[in-house]
Amino acid sequence: MNCLAGWREREAREPITITPKILYFGTPVVLITTMNLDGSVNISPMSSAWALGDRVVLGCTASGQGIENLMRQGECALNFPSPALWENVERIARATGRREVPSDKAAIGYEYVADKFALAELTQTGSETIAPPRIAECPLQFEAELVEARPSKGPEGQPAFYIAETRVKRVHAHRDIVVDGTDHIDPARWEPLLYVFRHYFGTGADLGKTFKAQY
Ligand SMILES: Cc1cc2nc3c(=O)[nH]c(=O)nc-3n(C[C@H](O)[C@H](O)[C@H](O)COP(=O)(O)O)c2cc1C
Repeated sequence: MNCLAGWREREAREPITITPKILYFGTPVVLITTMNLDGSVNISPMSSAWALGDRVVLGCTASGQGIENLMRQGECALNFPSPALWENVERIARATGRREVPSDKAAIGYEYVADKFALAELTQTGSETIAPPRIAECPLQFEAELVEARPSKGPEGQPAFYIAETRVKRVHAHRDIVVDGTDHIDPARWEPLLYVFRHYFGTGADLGKTFKAQY
C-alpha cells in the first residue's frame, strides 16, 4: 500500500460523532400475528426482536394494536419473511389494526386496516398450540406465549413502548430450509429479511460459523 492509500484508509476509519434519529443497526423483520378482540387476526411488522434460548424479546411501541392484543390474549406467532417478501411487508407498513389511529401515526399517513392479510397478499395457516394463525409464505414461523411485558416509561410518564418477553412453544420451517432428517435450519438456505436503518436488505454469503454451530 502506498503512502497516500494508507492515509486515505486511516482517514476513512476515523470515527466522527453523529446524532442519528434512529439506531436501527440491522435486525430481522418479524411479522407478529395476534388476535383482535373481534376474533380477526392482526399483523404487526416489527424489527426490534432478538432470541435467547427459547425466548424471543420484542420491542413494541405502546400505541400499536399488536402489543395490546398480545397483552390481552397472551399469544402471538412470530413469522420471519424472506427477502423476497419485502414488498408484501411494505404494503402494510402504513397500516394499523387500531381503529382510532394515533395522531402521530395519522400525521405520517397510517390508516386503520381491518384485513392486513388481504392488503399484504399473505395467507393464514392455523397454529397448533396458540390461537393466532401463522403466515404460510414465511419460511420460519414460531408459536409463542407472552411471559412478561415490561413498560418503558415515556416522557410524560406513560409507557412509550413495551419490552415483551415471549416463550417459543413450537417452530415450523419450510422443508427447503431444514437440513434433511434433522432439526437444524440450514443457514446457507435460510435468509432473513433485514431492516437496516429503515432499508430492507437480504444477507450476503456465509462468512463462517461460530464454534457452537450445530450444522
Ligand atoms: C419493517 C418494519 C419494522 C418495524 N419495526 C417495529 C418495531 O420493532 N417495533 C414497533 O413497535 N414498531 C415497528 N414498526 C412499526 C409498526 O409496524 C407499526 O407500529 C404498526 O402500527 C404496528 O401495527 P399494529 O398497530 O396493527 O400493531 C415497524 C414497521 C416496519 C414496516
